[in-house]
Amino acid sequence: MEQRRWERLGRDLGVVGLGCWQLGAGWGAVSEDDAMATLHAAADAGVTCFDTADVYGDGRSERLVGRMRAERIADEEEPVFVATKMGRRANPHVPEAFTLEAFRAWVDRSRANLDMDTLDLVQLHCPPPSVLDSDQIFDALDELVQEGRIAAYGVSVETCAEALAAISRPGVVSVQIILNAFRPKPLEEVLPAAAAAGVAIIARVPLASGLLTGRYDESTTFPAEDHRAFNRHGDAFDVGETFSGVPYEVGVQAAREIAALTPPGWSTAQLALRWVLDQPGVSVVIPGARNPAQALDNVVAAHLDPLPQATLTAMAEIYDHHIREHIHARW
Ligand SMILES: NC(=O)c1ccc[n+]([C@@H]2O[C@H](COP(=O)([O-])OP(=O)(O)OC[C@H]3O[C@@H](n4cnc5c(N)ncnc54)[C@H](OP(=O)(O)O)[C@@H]3O)[C@@H](O)[C@H]2O)c1
Repeated sequence: MEQRRWERLGRDLGVVGLGCWQLGAGWGAVSEDDAMATLHAAADAGVTCFDTADVYGDGRSERLVGRMRAERIADEEEPVFVATKMGRRANPHVPEAFTLEAFRAWVDRSRANLDMDTLDLVQLHCPPPSVLDSDQIFDALDELVQEGRIAAYGVSVETCAEALAAISRPGVVSVQIILNAFRPKPLEEVLPAAAAAGVAIIARVPLASGLLTGRYDESTTFPAEDHRAFNRHGDAFDVGETFSGVPYEVGVQAAREIAALTPPGWSTAQLALRWVLDQPGVSVVIPGARNPAQALDNVVAAHLDPLPQATLTAMAEIYDHHIREHIHARW
């Protein structure tokens, strides 16, 4: 698989990773057997970057990633890099909760879940925006590195403004942001700023929660415990995390037009992922998968040719026609 350099980490990682939210909770049922098979299938296919969080299934996702890592650790040819997140266990989720003491407790729980002495990367998990203005909070993150609890830290953000604030922090190794054909705004300022600063970009929600696979239609339903049912209007967390914030019926229609652009022999998921990988400044794309077949289909995107300009232009027109008015000013 193509490797891209994470400058501030001093390390190369494969361009297609695996999002492991599905393996925790929030996407309907995924059995432990399916979760483990998905993790190993991805790693067998060359995935090195696994994105999880302490709150996904209240630690279930981290524990399964930790088990997979332990099962493969003997093979130094296949390094597993774990990017986890902290901060969403704060209740209330306010800047005052982001203390060194809380960080140590959250990180120590993730170290136990993942069975790792030093965590590879810990991302602040979409913190309240004012957290990004606090020198004290970034000093606390530096302290965690000094202590050896974590090797590096990054920030997962909702908006382009938050991404730019995170990139300006010298210790930030990576910024995770929603980037897909329905969310192209980071191409304007965030990706160039990250590239100039040597900050890695982790592109999340690349399939717009599955919309950009072209599989859903107006009659598709999701289980009650799936955020695509319970967070469709932002009742539980930022509505931008569900279908990228695009109203469902609008997204289905736009996805239909994008699916019509799928090159012969490709899946529409691969088209959507290739769009992300073709954007300069992207370090890794982390599609979520609920089974090995999805994970393997997604890995293929790393081996496909860049999209022709005509396809990129057509996708931009679909965005302008259907999506921009719902998205551009907000995130
Ligand atoms: N705040 C944050 O930091 C944050 C927020 C959101 C996500 N994330 C991270 O980003 C990762 C990716 O985002 P996401 O999982 O929200 O959305 P996504 O990757 O855009 O969509 C994932 C969904 O797409 C469908 N899918 C995936 N591969 C497919 C394939 N090859 N063919 C057909 N369908 C396919 C599956 O839908 P079905 O379930 O319908 O099969 C899957 O659940 C997450 O797992 C998580 O690690 C982080």
